[in-house]
Amino acid sequence: MAQEKGRNLSEVQARIGASHNIHDLDRKLQFYGRWAPDYDQDVAALQYRAPRLAVDCLTQALPGPPHAALILDVACGTGLVAAELQARGFLQLHGVDGSPEMLKQAQACGLYQHLSLCTLGQEPLPSPEGGLVCLTTRANPSNLQYKEALEATLDKLEQAGAWKRLVAQTVDHWELATSPLEGTRAKDGFISGIIYLYQKQRSP
Ligand SMILES: C[S@@+](CC[C@H](N)C(=O)[O-])C[C@H]1O[C@@H](n2cnc3c(N)ncnc32)[C@H](O)[C@@H]1O
Repeated sequence: MAQEKGRNLSEVQARIGASHNIHDLDRKLQFYGRWAPDYDQDVAALQYRAPRLAVDCLTQALPGPPHAALILDVACGTGLVAAELQARGFLQLHGVDGSPEMLKQAQACGLYQHLSLCTLGQEPLPSPEGGLVCLTTRANPSNLQYKEALEATLDKLEQAGAWKRLVAQTVDHWELATSPLEGTRAKDGFISGIIYLYQKQRSP
């Protein structure tokens, strides 16, 4: 992916919007791999608020102090959620992502104690028992297929007794839409997203 700086909003919207038509997981992960070096500046242009919203949700749901919680950041990308977590006092952070290039960026941010290459839905997640698992995705119609597949995977993990759902919360003002067609719930040009929090269960 090109490294040019200072892309304007419409360029970013076109690039990210095109990726929303990729439904095959391997191709999606390849797209993320090419995007990794530019990801942070592109999502900033899109006014991406998911990390802050996810950590708001986590803070509200947490039974104890943040420093005592072990958080597994699933699909951690470059580490934007970790930056938000650290700012709110969360210190034990593990991350997984299906893209090696994204993990390289996450490693560079220096906030995770452990990072693993792992594709959710294809292999077990490497995390200690009892940790909290945080995942997010877009909740607008253009992401419906991915969201449904993700939820099917989460349901299987819960039915198998591996994870227990704490929260599944839809939130507005996730990020700017990449096109006017992106969703009927778009408010002020923003689309919605969803935050999932799970507690990893101890093995029977
Ligand atoms: C939109 S980015 C979000 C990254 C980060 N959570 C954030 O808020 O900035 C989506 C990330 O999910 C990863 N990803 C997508 N599907 C995945 C899967 N099935 N397993 C693991 N990682 C996945 C991609 O590689 C990418 O880093």
